[in-house]
Amino acid sequence: MSRRWGWWAAVVAALAAGCGDQEPGAFAPRGPDSRDLMVLFWVMTVAGGLIFVGVLVALVMSARGRRPGEGDDQVDRRSARLVVGGGILLPIVVLVPLTIGMLVVGNRISPRLDDAYEIRVRGHLFWWEVAYPEAGAVTANEIHVPTGTRVRLVMDTADVIHSVWVPQLAGKIDMIPGQETALTFTAEEPGVFLGQCAEFCGIQHARMRFLLVAHEPAAFEEWLANEASPAREPATEAAERGEATFVEVGCAACHQVRGTEAVGVVGPDLTHIASRRTLGAGILPNTRGQLGGWIADPQAVKPGNLMPPTPLTSQQLLDLLEYLEGLE
Ligand code: CUA
Repeated sequence: MSRRWGWWAAVVAALAAGCGDQEPGAFAPRGPDSRDLMVLFWVMTVAGGLIFVGVLVALVMSARGRRPGEGDDQVDRRSARLVVGGGILLPIVVLVPLTIGMLVVGNRISPRLDDAYEIRVRGHLFWWEVAYPEAGAVTANEIHVPTGTRVRLVMDTADVIHSVWVPQLAGKIDMIPGQETALTFTAEEPGVFLGQCAEFCGIQHARMRFLLVAHEPAAFEEWLANEASPAREPATEAAERGEATFVEVGCAACHQVRGTEAVGVVGPDLTHIASRRTLGAGILPNTRGQLGGWIADPQAVKPGNLMPPTPLTSQQLLDLLEYLEGLE
């Protein structure tokens, strides 16, 4: 294999490797909105390809000189046909349907003030705050929605520009300081869908994930009632010590645990942290070991984030973990 072919083979192999073993994305839509967007994408791509070919053909035709035996009249007619066909008819035939399709899809997926179920999502540097104002529930890095229901995420941001994107369910929308933005979509079936920040927002951009969890309506209500309730009482002695430690060592300065002395609002609400699937904005599974590692040294996991390492004795750490793991 020549050197050049070796280079191309490496590029293709790298691309193929990038395609395998990925989370399902926008090409595996699970809702009407993302399905509309995918159809629009393919129509645009095919139409764009046809336009490209059409322009190349017109270019070749226009570059051809006078054919043998052709008079001035014939050349003029050929030129006129080329201009009318390639310059007027082709754009009309292609662009008008594309514009109509774009307007129809844009209208169908655009958020409007209908009776959609409203969830508030606030962007923070390094994490997502998710609130259900009617129910009084607050959580982080997980957006739970009922299936078969039009949902509207109303978004603002504390200190950063993120772009919210759940490729399998909806398009993306920016969180803009000083402004509210909204995204509407419907999840058709229960499932857990990956969300990812789609706009560079600092050194942890690639680790700004979240989960969108769709439940059957009854299961959603159950989840919501639990999230809205105050924190569970510590069930063991170790958990009781953990609750005190949480305040003593400073966790409570930044984190809230509703129903306790911890009322910080800088970091995520931890009232029901044990019910969440991940830690650190979707980057670690929420297990005892990962939680311990995160508390001991969050900077090692997500460098630059606002949580400092907390100096703890091993007993304090174990007590804290016992406490936090009981906050279901
Ligand atoms: Cu938020 Cu990238």
